[in-house]
Amino acid sequence: MLTISSRGQNMTESPIRKLSKYADQAKKEGKNVIHLNIGQPDIQPPAEVLAEMRQLNLSEIAYGPSDGLKPLKKSIQKYYKKNAIELKEKDILVTSGASEAILFVMNAVTDFGDEIITFEPFYANYIGFAIFEGVQIKTIKANIEENFSLPNLSLIEEQISPKTKAILLCNPNNPTGYVYSKKELELLKDIALKHDLYLIVDEVYREFFYDDENSTKGNSVLNFPELKDHAIMLDSISKRYSMCGARIGCIVSRNEKIMQTIMKYAQARLCPPTIAQVLANKAYTISDDYLENVVKIYKERRDFLIDRLSKMEDVMSSHPMGAFYTMVQLPVEDTDHFAQWMLEKFEWNNETLMVAPGSGFYNNPEDGKREIRIAYVLNKKELEKALIILEKALIEYPHTIKEKNKILAQ
Ligand SMILES: Cc1ncc(COP(=O)(O)O)c(C=O)c1O
Repeated sequence: MLTISSRGQNMTESPIRKLSKYADQAKKEGKNVIHLNIGQPDIQPPAEVLAEMRQLNLSEIAYGPSDGLKPLKKSIQKYYKKNAIELKEKDILVTSGASEAILFVMNAVTDFGDEIITFEPFYANYIGFAIFEGVQIKTIKANIEENFSLPNLSLIEEQISPKTKAILLCNPNNPTGYVYSKKELELLKDIALKHDLYLIVDEVYREFFYDDENSTKGNSVLNFPELKDHAIMLDSISKRYSMCGARIGCIVSRNEKIMQTIMKYAQARLCPPTIAQVLANKAYTISDDYLENVVKIYKERRDFLIDRLSKMEDVMSSHPMGAFYTMVQLPVEDTDHFAQWMLEKFEWNNETLMVAPGSGFYNNPEDGKREIRIAYVLNKKELEKALIILEKALIEYPHTIKEKNKILAQ
């Protein structure tokens, strides 16, 4: 009999995409669906990249080196140097997005059944990748009331077992928008050294922080010399240059053995996409004005969104300091149901919303049942409309808990 692997059966659906079929149906019925569910930036990629794309005049589209094209690696090296991170070329390996980087790193540091510790709510695909690789993700819950800051150290240490190989952190964080302070990173550094664990930090949003005191510049895991062998950083151009479809990211580590191991996986998949690397190289060489402007736009949206959410009855948002997401607690018992209901049953002026239900960002889905993740990748006018629709939907939804502060008091 043909069977489906238990790994395949256990694979989780992405909470960001799982309602897509309902959104497609709503669109077929003529409704406009505003997407707050996915971190797909609406900002244009750099003009220089678009110009380069139009001018590409290639006579061949060949395989490149497994660790990435040399000019791109040099540009990446320069980018980090500008950010006070000194690297050798061999410390950088170009991947097909941070997604492939996560897979390679998990594969390099764990064996089947090993454990990686991370914090909830987490980037949902970490679980998907862990299932891919037969790795257990152990979690420690961060709380919305504490703005999703780093949980108590004793809780982290309690989760460490002989099978634990790494702590995985996303900084700035998706889905919470929290930016870990230097002090919090130092605490994690101490734990990593004490228990000899890798500290893997996903820094794909490293440019996106909105309050100077929470700068992620200089706060990279690569800035701790003591972590030379323990630190592994994941990065990507997807969000930084609004180039999600290019599929270019990288792994950075000064641990030679890890990089040599990852190189073997990289060789097995031959090379990252050649054309996209040429465009990525262009993006890395543009002036700082582009990113300064992008960060300014996201900051304005963050300020607008958080102010507006704070005025909504019985709605509680975290205060995102970076990335472009926030977790929001709603006065409903089951945001999976609410999100589907908005797509299937609700409209306001023939428009509705798609949000990412919080359950998919937790190991135990029940923990996120009252939360949604909002991605503020829309212009302010669209965002304003989206929030009006959310407000109207909460009024009309038959299961909204009307009694003020009932949820928050529980
Ligand atoms: C935290 C985080 N890590 C990794 C990724 C994957 O990025 P990429 O497009 O480079 O594969 C994403 C994408 O949303 C993300 O939010």
